[in-house]
Amino acid sequence: MKVLVLYGGSQSANGVELRETAARLGHEVTSGSIMDVSSEISNEASRFWLDRDEITDVDVCFVRSFGPGTCEQLTRRISMIEHMELSGIRVVNPTYSFRRARDKYSTQYALSGAGLPIATTYTTESMERAYRRSREMGVSVYKPILSSMGKGSLKFDDPEIAYNAFKMLSRVGMPLIVQEYLENPGRDLRVFVVGSEVVATAYKYGGPGEWKTNVAQGGKMVDEPVPEEILDLGVRAAEALGLDYSGVDIMETPRGPVVLEANGSPGWQALKAVTGVDIAEKIVLHATEGIRVG
Ligand SMILES: Nc1ncnc2c1ncn2[C@@H]1O[C@H](COP(=O)(O)OP(=O)(O)O)[C@@H](O)[C@H]1O
Ligand SMILES: [Mg+2]
Repeated sequence: MKVLVLYGGSQSANGVELRETAARLGHEVTSGSIMDVSSEISNEASRFWLDRDEITDVDVCFVRSFGPGTCEQLTRRISMIEHMELSGIRVVNPTYSFRRARDKYSTQYALSGAGLPIATTYTTESMERAYRRSREMGVSVYKPILSSMGKGSLKFDDPEIAYNAFKMLSRVGMPLIVQEYLENPGRDLRVFVVGSEVVATAYKYGGPGEWKTNVAQGGKMVDEPVPEEILDLGVRAAEALGLDYSGVDIMETPRGPVVLEANGSPGWQALKAVTGVDIAEKIVLHATEGIRVG
């Protein structure tokens, strides 16, 4: 089978692992940046190229990132990936699901629409309204609409600090996403789902004085038993977003478990190290399953 791995601005360890695993499993693999993909549409055919090489006959395309760029460049790339999908290439994760999972606003209504518990999340472009809402919430959290690894998220114990942050963020054109801060036991969970199966889980503990548990923020993953109810929530969250594979973040709060997000391009290096599960292999096997070649 022909497999393509597309990354964004640069290649990560996860993209490299997908490529190497697909090759080890006997597939013909190419990889490159989504920024170097060109496409053509006519009434007769759809064609795609990575640099100068034609990739129209690829069977499976892993998209790890839409890459950096302007709103217009991102619009073209997202449309192009969707075009590949409509031309018969299996895109993993599916374009629309990936886009929705990238966006911290649309993730919330996808999860809530599927009946899953979420944190109350307010969005606005008005710093005054964001300020008013964060005052009502008491302790609140700001999240960039597009971000990961805990980057750029802020916790406000004092709404006046929130006011200053909102003022600056709105000046540089950032939408304001204000979320209720959830009480928690100082840890949350990562549930890694492939297809409709949980393949690995870990509790994540924040570093000293850190409210975020992301490994990139000094958090630590620990392989501890996870309640059945949480595993089920993880699978339902991945399904709600239509993701082939996902790293779902769940927090145990006084009002029960809450789904924070379902990542559409999760990393698995820390989770693999702590659980020993070959996550890349699970993803490649799932993505190439049931595809007819030729
Ligand atoms: N509403 C919240 N209340 C308390 N902690 C939160 C809240 N939202 C996020 N966190 C903490 O911040 C981390 C990062 O948030 P998350 O929504 O997963 O975004 P990211 O894409 O940056 O990982 C979570 O794993 C959790 O530890
Ligand atoms: Mg997260």
